[in-house]
Amino acid sequence: MAWVRACGVSEIKPGEAVRIDAEPPVAVFNIDGEFFATADTCTHEEASLADGYVDGAQVECAWHFAKFCLRTGRALSLPATEDLATYRVRVADDAVFIDI
Ligand code: FES
Repeated sequence: MAWVRACGVSEIKPGEAVRIDAEPPVAVFNIDGEFFATADTCTHEEASLADGYVDGAQVECAWHFAKFCLRTGRALSLPATEDLATYRVRVADDAVFIDI
């Protein structure tokens, strides 16, 4: 595990997400100024969840509409049955860091 700079705080607007090219890719979400990081790849198929629809503290996959909790990574609806990995997030010096 290592803290890695993901992006600047201002690069993710509230209700949006960015995909970080890590291995595996990570999605960082801004929920009303609070940042969360999960695996970017949907556990159903290969969609990028950074391209999904953020609704409160949930993201809905753009491909087949599975929903995941951004706080816990839990799969909340079919067709996803497997939870997402989540990563710790820290904000410092106007940047978002993720523990990957
Ligand atoms: S790839 Fe996400 S629900 Fe199918």
